[in-house]
Amino acid sequence: MENTREKAQSWWSHATVYQVYIRSFADGNGDGIGDIEGLLSRMDYLVDLGVDAIWINPWYESPLADGGYDVSDYRAIESRYGTLAHAEELIGQAHDRGIKVIADLVPNHTSEKHAWFREATSSNVGHQSRDRYHIRDGKGLDGELPPTNWESVFGGPAWTRLDDGQWYLHLFAPEQPDLNWNNAEVKEEFASILRFWLDRGIDGFRIDVAHGLIKDETFPDIDLASAKLLESSQMENHPHWDRDEILPIVASWRKILDDYDGERMLVAEAWVHPTRVGRYLQPGLYQQSFNFDFLEASWDREVFHTSIQKSIEAMAPLEADSTWVLSNHDVMRESTRYGLPPETDWRAWPMEGPSSLLDAELGSQRARAAALCMLGLPGSCYIYQGQELGLPEVWDLPEDVLDDPVWERSGGKLKGRDGCRVPLPWKQDGASAGFSESGERWLPQPEHWGVLSVEAQQKDAASTLNLYKQAVALRKKFCGADKAFTWLEGFPDEVLAYKHGDLSCLVNFGSSPLPLDAIDNVLLKSDRTHTAELAPDTAVWFL
Ligand code: NOJ
Ligand code: CA
Repeated sequence: MENTREKAQSWWSHATVYQVYIRSFADGNGDGIGDIEGLLSRMDYLVDLGVDAIWINPWYESPLADGGYDVSDYRAIESRYGTLAHAEELIGQAHDRGIKVIADLVPNHTSEKHAWFREATSSNVGHQSRDRYHIRDGKGLDGELPPTNWESVFGGPAWTRLDDGQWYLHLFAPEQPDLNWNNAEVKEEFASILRFWLDRGIDGFRIDVAHGLIKDETFPDIDLASAKLLESSQMENHPHWDRDEILPIVASWRKILDDYDGERMLVAEAWVHPTRVGRYLQPGLYQQSFNFDFLEASWDREVFHTSIQKSIEAMAPLEADSTWVLSNHDVMRESTRYGLPPETDWRAWPMEGPSSLLDAELGSQRARAAALCMLGLPGSCYIYQGQELGLPEVWDLPEDVLDDPVWERSGGKLKGRDGCRVPLPWKQDGASAGFSESGERWLPQPEHWGVLSVEAQQKDAASTLNLYKQAVALRKKFCGADKAFTWLEGFPDEVLAYKHGDLSCLVNFGSSPLPLDAIDNVLLKSDRTHTAELAPDTAVWFL
């Protein structure tokens, strides 16, 4: 297959985007919580890495019941992260360095501490403020049963009862009541919030739970026996996932963005079946949607091949571009994931073990190969902070430090997502490996975390950080959104081989080395050896 781009080019078409989980990036004031000042102090690191844009996880005022995805004021910065002035400075400093800024918008739910929810819960049954949320009578003789059998993504029922006897819907934690997107005030408020941040120079928005905004107003039960919640998002006419009525809302947002100068974009966090992603990417809607199919691909040549091929084919008739994601703040870090046997449920494994299943060295080798595999592809690549350091999942965090609501809501069955959110190591030494000058950190880092630090890796030519840095630069030089992508023939079955622009990439998923004698212009190898062969679980780039 050959695919030559003739689409309009925008800054995101072939961008390398770096995801900043602000709470764990860098602490500027010594309280152990990452903040905007910390990010400002590390801007040159991002320039050096060569990224085109940053996506910052929610930085708005929030009780942090779900790491900031519970927003109490969308126009204020969480005081633990800084002030609005800091945010404005950050946007300006990023722009001065040619870096775009993508904010994270959370329209599916607010925090329970949001003024709207406070008003709704302190008003009488039937008050119009309640219509901004899904607040309903329960079932049963006395309304003692929830209105539907829907489950929260974090575990447990998706409804919580108020003191007055009515129930409110929360597809996530009880601290995150779902908004009613059929309510005119909700629509107006979010249009105004978008303008608030666009006026301040934000270049794009990552839209949280993009597939969840609309609920079936008849509130039917779900056949839970045959459908697990996330998997059932593949189902047509699901009561609360992936409903058609979401798309006109997106169109209204897109019109707002398009009215602004410059190119502003929307990227969807839509956990839907790959065959349904294209619906969100029709003209006038999202420009991108995260490619979770690629993130979930197990370490297998066919699986990777099919995932890449499907995405490129799906994007061909659309204005949209492929995105490539290996990691984010919601999933086990890939250098641990790829070190587990393929059939392992990595969400459950940190509890169920046994730890002997993990081959950490193998995982980290594969993660480096996957990095080259991803960074040569056409479209946008999203790098989650720490991925460029090859950080592993900290899967053995003690239970008493776990902060993710998943831990509690799953009744201790799942550890949750804290293990990929551990504060970054910047320096070799010090109590918090340079995350905070004071040595404080909101989650403990493993012992010897400093070995993986930016400082240590900058000194080591063969480090994962230097691999990423070189790969990002070479990607800019030799590939591009307007360049042809084609699969290369003539390699063994277990080798994935493609050419994009001038750059060719081979990834060895097999168990025997591949001689590289016939290849002269090697640019980069994921294992950084200079041998004339491609070892198993490694990748090479050449011209
Ligand atoms: C997706 C976000 O990435 C995740 O961190 C959050 O818990 C849920 N949406 C709910 O907002
Ligand atoms: Ca701080």
